[in-house]
This record gives sequence, C-alpha cells and structure tokens, in this order.
Amino acid sequence: MSELNLILFGPPGAGKGTQADRLRSDFQLPYIATGDMLRANVKEGTELGQQAKQYMDRGDLVPDELIVAMAAERLGEDDALDGFILDGFPRTTEQAEALDKQLSRMSRRITAVLLIDVPDREVIRRLSGRRVCVKAGHNYHVDFDPPKHDDVCDQDGSRLVQRDDDQPEVIEKRLVVYHDQTEPLVDYYDQQGILRRVDGTRPPAEVHDHIRALIATLRLEEDV
Ligand code: AP5
Repeated sequence: MSELNLILFGPPGAGKGTQADRLRSDFQLPYIATGDMLRANVKEGTELGQQAKQYMDRGDLVPDELIVAMAAERLGEDDALDGFILDGFPRTTEQAEALDKQLSRMSRRITAVLLIDVPDREVIRRLSGRRVCVKAGHNYHVDFDPPKHDDVCDQDGSRLVQRDDDQPEVIEKRLVVYHDQTEPLVDYYDQQGILRRVDGTRPPAEVHDHIRALIATLRLEEDV
C-alpha cells in the first residue's frame, strides 16, 4: 500500500481524538483535526476563529466554505503527501464531495473511513466528564481516564479544563447536528466500499487493537 489516507469518523465523544493519539505514533502520519485547527484559530483570535467561535459555542457546524478552504490548504502541505489521519472532516455531504475532488485532482483516494460507533447515552457520559489540557489538548475523563493529580495534565503539567462545547445543552445540540448532517456520510462511504465499523464502546486499548487489525487487513488486501 503506497499511502494510508484515513478518516476517523463518528459522533462527538466517540473517542476519535483518543484513538488518533495512538495511531499517529503507530503510523507516523500527520494528524489533521478540523476541531483542533478551529480552536487554535479561536485562541489566536484570527478572523476565521472569530467567525467560527459563535457556531462552535452553540454546537452548530461552522459553514462549509470556511472549513473546506482550511482543510484543503492543510491537506496540500508537504507532510500530508504520503498519508494522513483526518478527524472531524468531512462532516457534510458538501465537504465529502469537496474532499473527493481535491484528492482525485492529486490522483489520490481515501484508504478507509473508520466509523467509531458509540450510542448517544455513552457520548453524553463521556463528554460531560471530559477534561482537556490547555497546552496541547491531551484528553482525560474524570471517571474513565483520570489524571494522576486532579486538574493537571500527566503529559505536560498544564491545567485541565472543560471545553466550552462540553456543557450539557451544547452536547445535546452536537448530537442532533451529527445525526442530521454528518451521519448520512456513513451511507456515502459505505457505497464507496471504504467504510469500516469499530465498536467504540470497548475500552480505548481494545478499540485501538481493532483499528490496527483493520489496517493490517487493508494492507494485505492491497498486496494480493
Ligand atoms: P471537534 O473538535 O471535531 O469535536 P467532535 O467531533 O464533537 O469530537 P470530540 O473532540 O468532542 O470527541 P472525540 O470523538 O475526539 O472524543 P475524545 O477522544 O475526546 O469539533 C468541535 C466543533 O468544531 C464542532 O462542533 C463544529 O462546530 C466545529 N467543526 C469541527 N470540524 C468541523 C467541520 N468539518 N465542519 C464544520 N464544523 C466543524 O473522547 C471523549 C471522552 O471520552 C474523553 O474524555 C476520553 O477520555 C473518553 N474516551 C475516549 N475513548 C473512550 C473509551 N473507549 N472508553 C471510555 N472513555 C473513552
């Protein structure tokens, strides 16, 4: 297999970021997360960040034209030419079509879309207890994956906080938006034959093992 172009897909809180942390060190691929890119823009106070913040705080999607341009620019950078792990993009049919067009212009294609499946009630439990570090966004959960010291990141010692969009009413809104606007992409990618399902309710290490096994199978199939 010449390159690994992966999409991590699933509802908010499915564990996409948690798995990406593991996969990027397994495969030495750049990790491109549109949510992280937007939050960095908000923090830096860029024009894009100022426009995006109002949508993010409500749990709505940021308009396609802003996201597609941002993602296209990032995917065109040198480090993404040999493969990538995309998280949080695409999230609408328009975004998926724009990504297909961009990749086909470069004679590339998506290797697999990994759907991390988790029911809504589990999403609510996970996001309500999630804490992230202010420095690098490392993820914790107050019950499932607590830090060694309260409110301090194990990895870089920075402060742990709750994301603005992890408030109960915003979580509910994000789930509605996921089911309405993003979930239709499951069929879109299934029809292309590149969707792979993973049970996201298992512990993180088991989810990781399953994804690695799927990728190993994809590589074998490609070699046949
Ligand atoms: P984004 O940052 O992409 O958020 P999301 O998709 O809602 O996903 P999360 O980051 O909340 O969850 P995750 O699946 O990464 O879960 P995690 O690993 O942290 O987007 C934020 C906003 O930006 C959007 O609402 C939108 O406004 C905007 N945006 C971004 N991309 C956009 C786009 N393409 N178009 C338009 N707008 C866009 O895990 C969650 C918690 O569960 C953690 O506490 C973790 O410790 C725990 N956990 C993880 N795995 C497990 C497990 N297996 N068992 C138990 N606990 C677990």
